[in-house]
Amino acid sequence: MKPSQILIVEDDRKMRLALREIMTKEGYSVDTVETGEAALGRVEETSYDLVITDLKLPGIDGMSLLKAIRKSRPDTSVVIITAYATVDTAVEAMREGAEDYISKPFNLDEIRIIVKKVLEKKALLDDNRLLRNQLKKKYSYDNVVGNSEAMIEVYKTIDKVKDAKATVLILGETGTGKELVARAIHYNSTRSGEPFLPVNCAALTESLLESELFGYVKGAFTGALKDKLGVFETADGGTVFLDEIGDISPRLQQVLLRVLENGEIQPVGSTARKKVDVRVVAATNKNLEELMKTSLFRADLYYRLNVISLRLPSLLERKEDIPALANHFLRKYSAENNKTITGISKEALQMLEGYNWPGNVRELENVIERATLLETTDEITVDSLSEKIRSSLNRSPVVLEEDLRTLEEVGRAYIIEVLEKTGGNKVKTSEILGINRTSLWRMMQRLKIVA
Ligand SMILES: Nc1ncnc2c1ncn2[C@@H]1O[C@H](COP(=O)(O)OP(=O)(O)OP(=O)(O)O)[C@@H](O)[C@H]1O
Ligand SMILES: [Mg+2]
Repeated sequence: MKPSQILIVEDDRKMRLALREIMTKEGYSVDTVETGEAALGRVEETSYDLVITDLKLPGIDGMSLLKAIRKSRPDTSVVIITAYATVDTAVEAMREGAEDYISKPFNLDEIRIIVKKVLEKKALLDDNRLLRNQLKKKYSYDNVVGNSEAMIEVYKTIDKVKDAKATVLILGETGTGKELVARAIHYNSTRSGEPFLPVNCAALTESLLESELFGYVKGAFTGALKDKLGVFETADGGTVFLDEIGDISPRLQQVLLRVLENGEIQPVGSTARKKVDVRVVAATNKNLEELMKTSLFRADLYYRLNVISLRLPSLLERKEDIPALANHFLRKYSAENNKTITGISKEALQMLEGYNWPGNVRELENVIERATLLETTDEITVDSLSEKIRSSLNRSPVVLEEDLRTLEEVGRAYIIEVLEKTGGNKVKTSEILGINRTSLWRMMQRLKIVA
């Protein structure tokens, strides 16, 4: 691993050298300068992990330097060195964004520990940032596959709504990509640096769901040994994804409505309310309007959630996306399983296009994952598709467009087939076909069938 890079800004020569020596011994890569001006120049050139600066410097002082670094290099941590007499200033420096301060005189261990702690924290933040960037990439629209008209409409809506605070309700059958789209909205929004937290409302009982969403205070119920934050607080600044929203109980519907209306949550067992800044994206595969009619879903909550709604098309409504989706999953599972399958055979693709996909994209993904594992050639063939997909072909045969034939052609082939089966017996053949012998004879003449 690359050693951390540190810049020391200290006008006192003895101190400067001492600091350089300690830090170098710790294994860091160290630069030193004497003035704030020189420091600014260095910081512009190099992305330091940490700048340790004396507060009192001739010319540009430590505080101004700190402010400049915070602006131009938000990723560089700053620790300031100050004399006892100026601890107040140190506190102010922390307020301005310094990570920590060291007061003079200091002993070597103290400074070692502070620097180590600051750098560890920075590494952690960097990791998080990296992880978030990866996640962001993962859930940008790049990963939502499909160029059908229906999907283009979806992308347009995502574009329009992603930065709004308003609640988004995502509707669609199972497996149509509701969660994927919820993530795409979040990771393409101004909130992308903050958490995206999904909660499956159907998976928890009413009281567990309430604690999960809003947290609880110590003693709220047996077993509540200490305060616990709910997802609404943990996701502060980000997005909470309420999946299967159609399944929440009437009481929680009311609580949720209040949260959406005033942006305040109340942990279980607490009398205090807390303000949170959370964007809610909700999803369901139920028909909320139907539930509303039977009073299972509150109308006021429905209208709150439904400020912006997005309906995801079923896979049948966007059959033209099947090849792109299938190939997308093929690449994914090929790579994951170290397979070198490069494509999907024409017949297999036709079968996929002919199936009715009750489980939508999720089902297609599973079918391709399975086929990738089973396939022994370098393309997915009919043999590695599941029986269900294959048998769908028997029920509704998939016929290539170039293979489509006229009624006459089909008729001719069938007459020949029956003649062959009856050994050329025209009486039997006409009986099977349900026509009289003269009609058969005329047809054979017209269609140039020689028997
Ligand atoms: N347009 C798409 N492009 C690529 N992958 C997709 C797309 N739509 C869905 N998927 C994939 O299909 C699977 C199911 O999607 P997701 O979980 O978002 O569906 P859902 O609508 O939330 O389903 P359910 O209602 O059953 O919870 C996921 O693995 C997802 O990545
Ligand atoms: Mg889902």
